[in-house]
Amino acid sequence: MPGQTVPPRLGRSIVARVTLLSDRWRGLRHLPFIAIADLPTPIVPVPTLASKAGAAIWIKADGRTSPRYGGNKVRKLEYLLGEAVAEGADTVVTTGAAGSHHALATAIFASELRLRVHVVAFPQPWSAHAEHQLRAILHAGAEVHPVPSPALALPRAQALAARLRLRGRRPHVIPPGGSSVAGVIGYVEAGLELSRQIEAGALPEPDAIFVALGTAGTAAGLAVGLAAAGVTSTIVGVRVVPRAIANRARIAELIGRTVMRLKRLDERFPDVAKPARSHVEIDGEELGPGYGAETAVGRYAMRLAREHAGLSLDPTYTAKAWSGMMRAAAGPRAGQRLLFVDTLSTAAPSFERAPRLPDSLRRLLRR
Ligand SMILES: Cc1ncc(COP(=O)(O)O)c(C=O)c1O
Repeated sequence: MPGQTVPPRLGRSIVARVTLLSDRWRGLRHLPFIAIADLPTPIVPVPTLASKAGAAIWIKADGRTSPRYGGNKVRKLEYLLGEAVAEGADTVVTTGAAGSHHALATAIFASELRLRVHVVAFPQPWSAHAEHQLRAILHAGAEVHPVPSPALALPRAQALAARLRLRGRRPHVIPPGGSSVAGVIGYVEAGLELSRQIEAGALPEPDAIFVALGTAGTAAGLAVGLAAAGVTSTIVGVRVVPRAIANRARIAELIGRTVMRLKRLDERFPDVAKPARSHVEIDGEELGPGYGAETAVGRYAMRLAREHAGLSLDPTYTAKAWSGMMRAAAGPRAGQRLLFVDTLSTAAPSFERAPRLPDSLRRLLRR
């Protein structure tokens, strides 16, 4: 692939792929990128839910971005790890909650590129899912450094990177949730992919697209990609973190910086920051007691998704997003066409002998 970064040691199943972005805007061939995702992900209709939900529902199956470990983080990592490799990094340092999907995806795919992985992890409520994730992060070979609160995670990651540099290593820091401009670009590509699927008739243009809103890179990238393709669907980010972390200003900033970066590489990339911002809505009604805390409506959402779509949701992100979609379908969006972006990996990492959790890490999962 001319101009695109080829990782030094390709894992067996890492294949070359021309991106929709670089195909359409030639200057974007210079974006560091490695192909780790199986794309496009399918569109799945959920016909049996229409009468119960009050709206027509489709799923964009981003849980299947990779058979090893899927979900939304894989798309982000194509550009995040591309950047790390292009910089000549030998180590990545990232942060997340103890059971972070982002940390696990980073541990799996970075290890495949023979990059060492450090995760600075902060506490979250215990759930069987979160404990499994944390054990899987260790099993994937990451070194986990506990900190007592989210606010300390990034400073600790930066201090750790500085120490590693002094020891002669070349660390690359990936921000929480992988939501730097590079990570957001993974979802610009997803927006273009979805617009192609609409054009091809896999689904009609949705009135609204529902996605869990955490560090906001997924929603921001989708908004840019869809606006660049002329799709005007509303993107509803269902907030699963406190408002201080995900809010309009944060989304606007990510959108603005991403469009600027893409335009700098190819001036023909359209100036869609304004329409992209105006297409995003935030639903703040599903958070409940806080990040990672299960809610009763979320549990009901998990049951509906399992029964009607055969979809497993997690309590922290996708159950809350699905619940927001059901509430909209029963109210202001009755009769509309709704698309759910499934951002949770369908592949659960399995291991026979995962390392036991030492007490320092077990304390990260609060009962
Ligand atoms: C399963 C899942 N869905 C959605 C999100 C939210 O994505 P973003 O942080 O880009 O808003 C995350 C982030 O960690 C996630 O793990």
